[in-house]
Amino acid sequence: MLLRIPQALTPEELAQVRQLVLSADWTDGRVTAGSQSGTVKNNLQLPEDLPVAQQARHIVSVALARNPMFITGALPKSVYPPLFNRYVGQTNAFGMHVDNAVRTHAATAKHVRTDISCTLFLSDLASYDGGELVVQDTYGEQRIKFDAGDLVMYPGTSVHRVEPVTRGERLACFFWIESMVRLDAQRRLLYDMDMSITALRQKDWDNRQGEPDGANRPESPEVVRLTGCYHNLLRMWADV
Ligand code: NI
Repeated sequence: MLLRIPQALTPEELAQVRQLVLSADWTDGRVTAGSQSGTVKNNLQLPEDLPVAQQARHIVSVALARNPMFITGALPKSVYPPLFNRYVGQTNAFGMHVDNAVRTHAATAKHVRTDISCTLFLSDLASYDGGELVVQDTYGEQRIKFDAGDLVMYPGTSVHRVEPVTRGERLACFFWIESMVRLDAQRRLLYDMDMSITALRQKDWDNRQGEPDGANRPESPEVVRLTGCYHNLLRMWADV
């Protein structure tokens, strides 16, 4: 499942993150690449132990934790601390690759299985050319280039690349999620069900607005049963 989360960062958070990371010294992006992806990776990356990287990461982490669409789409069990990259000048592309299945965080030695890959776009669309994230899936190639502050989540199993940036620079935050639900197809089913139940609940509520205030307004039995189905599927599939 490819999922766009619009405005994952507020404009203020976006400005803060940009200011923090652009003030720092950047390094060769191959520091976190695997042996295959290292051969095609050509970008810049912010060293993750820099204080500004930690501050920027904190802003992103707080924003994600309050985002219901992120939570329901990812069902996160653990998140690899967000990293930052830049595509600019001669360091401007990342060829076809698959992300490593397991990332081990250097500082904590904690392992994260990369069920979901995430890119949070940080540059204004008008400020650069190229830089599309191209994800191969069963429907063919998806070319993704979103507004600054928007996030895309895609299955960690996908072959993907970043097209060369031919003008300006593309700044982004990227990270991986180990989900409570390992399989993409199961996460998708749960996501669709959750979204539908939320919409049905809202319809139920709208239909009953004429009832007197203070009346006991239980949800319809259908919504209650569907909510039960959601939780029982999650119970069956979740690994926590
Ligand atoms: Ni990648």
